[in-house]
Amino acid sequence: MEFLQPVRDFLACATPAAWLDAAVQDLPTLLQDHANCEKKAAGTAMNLLFRYNDNDRLQTELAQLAREELLHYEQVRELMAKRGIAYRALPAGRYATGLRQHVRTSEPGRLVDLMIIGAFVEARSCERFSAIAPRLDDELKRYYTFLLRSEARHFQHYLGLAEQYANEPIAPRVAFFREVERELIEAPDDMLRFHSGPPAPASVAA
Ligand SMILES: [Fe+2]
Ligand SMILES: [Fe+2]
Repeated sequence: MEFLQPVRDFLACATPAAWLDAAVQDLPTLLQDHANCEKKAAGTAMNLLFRYNDNDRLQTELAQLAREELLHYEQVRELMAKRGIAYRALPAGRYATGLRQHVRTSEPGRLVDLMIIGAFVEARSCERFSAIAPRLDDELKRYYTFLLRSEARHFQHYLGLAEQYANEPIAPRVAFFREVERELIEAPDDMLRFHSGPPAPASVAA
């Protein structure tokens, strides 16, 4: 899967083994949070479509992306229903907030930062699908292997948009968010979520 290499190069670290161990032991939580992530990805793209109404390329690429993410949301819900996993409300983890708190307030910095964050979220999802797929049953393995191709594409779309709308090289902001993202992925986390860190010692015992 050669399209994975740019994703791996973009991220500062791989998913920790301790996260994978915890995730395969709690598929109902993983799937519910994964469903939430797809819905949020669609919502984020919709918000951007309304806010940046005058950006032609953004309108084209994010309209398609929003549609795909909402389709993924429906697909994950179908998989859950098939497995008898009841839909439940699950509070969000720290990941998205941890990234978004650093978004600049003036334009085009705000737009560029949101595009860079979008690229990291998509890249991490892609990396995580590929890391966990070999440890799942055939149906989920197939589905996650299918999904990681879209997320690799979404990663490239967001990165391309960041480059287009920036009025300066984006490398320093990418490097900054790369570190923030690495910290969120590697620091112990109290909750298992699709983008959480490895379980904190207390939550392992719980
Ligand atoms: Fe998706
Ligand atoms: Fe995506």
